[in-house]
Amino acid sequence: MKTTIKELLSDYKKLIHHDITIQGWARAFRSNRFIALNDGSTIENLQIVVDFENIPEDILKNISVASSLKITGELVESQGAGQSIEIIAKKVEILGDNFTEERDKTILQPKRHTLEILREQAHLRMRTNLFSSVFRVRHAVSFAIHQFFNQNQFFYINTPIITGADAEGAGEMFGVTNFDLNNIPKNDDGEINYDEDFFGKKTNLTVSGQLSVETAMMGLGRVYTFGPTFRAENSNTTRHLAEFWMVEPEVAFNNLEANIDLAEDFLKYIITYVLENCKEDLKSLDERFAAEQKAKPEKDRAKEGLIEKLENVISKRFKRVSYTEAIDILMNSKENKKGKFKFPITEWGADLQSEHERFLVEKHFESPVVLFDYPKDIKAFYMRLNEDGKTVAAMDVLFPGIGEIIGGSQREERYQVLKDKMEIMGVDEEELWWYMDTRKFGSVPHAGFGLGLERLVLFVTGMSNIRDVIPFPRTPKNAEF
Ligand code: 4AD
Ligand code: MG
Repeated sequence: MKTTIKELLSDYKKLIHHDITIQGWARAFRSNRFIALNDGSTIENLQIVVDFENIPEDILKNISVASSLKITGELVESQGAGQSIEIIAKKVEILGDNFTEERDKTILQPKRHTLEILREQAHLRMRTNLFSSVFRVRHAVSFAIHQFFNQNQFFYINTPIITGADAEGAGEMFGVTNFDLNNIPKNDDGEINYDEDFFGKKTNLTVSGQLSVETAMMGLGRVYTFGPTFRAENSNTTRHLAEFWMVEPEVAFNNLEANIDLAEDFLKYIITYVLENCKEDLKSLDERFAAEQKAKPEKDRAKEGLIEKLENVISKRFKRVSYTEAIDILMNSKENKKGKFKFPITEWGADLQSEHERFLVEKHFESPVVLFDYPKDIKAFYMRLNEDGKTVAAMDVLFPGIGEIIGGSQREERYQVLKDKMEIMGVDEEELWWYMDTRKFGSVPHAGFGLGLERLVLFVTGMSNIRDVIPFPRTPKNAEF
């Protein structure tokens, strides 16, 4: 493979006054003399100085923004401000031109496009400074996740995408079938006959790998799954995707407190990794974030810059607050009393909406908050029942500007308690026979959680819409490319 611009910029001294070959796309072509070349390895462009003596005119006139180029020339220290080195081109080859008839469309001009327009332009989106920074940071976050777990003796378990289980019991699933949809076999009662379907049963895309990874935990101790998950919730918000990536660790012998400690260490590790390893991209994202804040009315502006916010989050302990305490705070808040909440809090047991979570994090505590011990009726069937008989050992980590970033719990490891709860909550025990077996044979206290990758990437990049931190977003009425 040829040298990348990132490699070249980090170690060029020995190559000064040597001829080198470099490849990339023209990000800009100024005064028919300076090409800003980018190859995706870094946000920084390499300046190419085109020497008219050596470069044939028919090549020069065909270079335009986005053309891919192979350039050979002398590497020199740059005279101009803004870059350390440049290449005086001796040979320029156009590897991929733009269709001339479409070249002049505004879409290829070096101007700012709105994020909405970019979402509709698959190729262009990836070659903007903004999105290449976002996706480099997303890569770093994923890498740090694997590194954190590897350093802590966790094993990466790949859990199935196609499954018969509804891990959350919420019914928000995309079905999977190989039936001819115009000719679905039905039995005498008019019900769909899934015996004849590919898997011989009703299946769907997974909403969470948790139940499978719990099974793996029974043998391997510390495990995690990290893969795509799918939810057919029709929520057209800036925080929901129909297809998102979830990271789910599961740890034998952990209780709720150890689970919260793990979640806090894990988040801080990843944010620290990004601060240390994505400096150029973060600097550019920080500037974008500042400009976006400036355009807002003063009362809506973020109090901290992006990098400042990340540094603050890793330096303080997250606030740990029980659901019962949180309800007290919310119920007695000025906002609640003055009717400012869309969903007023009137009693213990209410499900918290994002407006409540944001109030706690952004107004009341001004810190990430871990809420724990939720009422059993508003949480999933697998969460461990507490001594009080009313709450479960659940935890949600809430982040400023995001709301819920992690959801998890200590699991109900007692067979009979789990079985009774499933019956009350209408979860079919027979369907989950394999899961029940983990409680029948050598059951163990254990805990785990799920992190929504995109919500964390939103937080660390300072972007405001979850569609802008996943390369190919899937949302209601949107699966174009
Ligand atoms: O709170 P959730 O639904 O928890 C679970 O699925 C558990 N089985 C996880 C576990 O304990 N192993 O989802 C976990 C996280 C949320 O906190 C949120 O960050 C993210 O997944 N999430 C979504 N992200 C984007 N779009 C959606 N539609 C999401 N739904 C959940
Ligand atoms: Mg949740």
